[in-house]
Amino acid sequence: VSELVRSILALPPAASSFADEVDRLHFFVITVTLIGAILTFLVAGYFVLRYRAKHLGPTPRSTAPFLLELGWIVGLMSLFVLWWVLGYRTFVRMESEAPQDAMEIYVTAKQWTWKFAYPDGRSSAAELVVPIGKPVRLLLTSQDVIHSFFVPAFRLKRDVLPGRYTSAWFEATKAGDYPLACAEYCGLAHSLMRARVRVLAPDEFERWLDGETLDPAESMAERGKQVASRHGCLGCHSLDGKLREGPTWLGLYRREVKLADGSTIVADEAYLTESMMEPSTRVVAGFPANMPSFQGVLTAPEVGALVELIKSLEEPDDGAS
Ligand code: CUA
Repeated sequence: VSELVRSILALPPAASSFADEVDRLHFFVITVTLIGAILTFLVAGYFVLRYRAKHLGPTPRSTAPFLLELGWIVGLMSLFVLWWVLGYRTFVRMESEAPQDAMEIYVTAKQWTWKFAYPDGRSSAAELVVPIGKPVRLLLTSQDVIHSFFVPAFRLKRDVLPGRYTSAWFEATKAGDYPLACAEYCGLAHSLMRARVRVLAPDEFERWLDGETLDPAESMAERGKQVASRHGCLGCHSLDGKLREGPTWLGLYRREVKLADGSTIVADEAYLTESMMEPSTRVVAGFPANMPSFQGVLTAPEVGALVELIKSLEEPDDGAS
């Protein structure tokens, strides 16, 4: 039935685990409003015929009982509340953190292309390749202006901002090629900023991973080390827990960090990126606020590589921080 309604409404194919839920809500809202519209037309039509002015005289006024009026209002209100509840459940599921076993892919938007980097160092341009049935967590950033990552078949849309990471996740359910478009006006060639999402069966995906390796020796974290030494990060940040002018990167990822203003923050991708771009915004307690901004110095793939490096530096499990 879903398939039929989808084709009547000219919706794109449904290829993610969210798609059916989103569509069901869509169908429900459309059905309810359609029924409402038809009823309104019928009643209006009846009134037009029944009360048309044969002779000029005052039209009798409606005297609907108060309770009936109240019933209408409450009924319509609860319909809206029902829509909201149904939609909110799906929304929460889509917006919550990706499952633990999700595969992470870095997405970089740039006027007017998309680039994808996998944690093992592979990258691809204009084509995102993912396996069926495995959750994928996207970490998205832009090198210039605001873009928006939109895959209609996944019912997934996320803004992509310069200087910080946003994340989104999905699980593809059907093999095939699906269009990916930019959904935020970003300049002259915005309408050409398109790419393709290829969903492969798990074994095909493995083969793709094996086959199209660009530089197998260089993982993203490995590249992060090179970036860190090239830009002098290691002068102030150690990788092994030693205290230098800035906080160590060892075990930093996902740790709760105490800030100079007394508040705490979890050192996730967004905070790490912000600390590179606007280091003085939220300084870690006990450290001088003298780090220069790397806005415009680090490219987005370099930032991604640094974040991946920090993530790879897990703390030894003695519990000390
Ligand atoms: Cu990028 Cu529009």
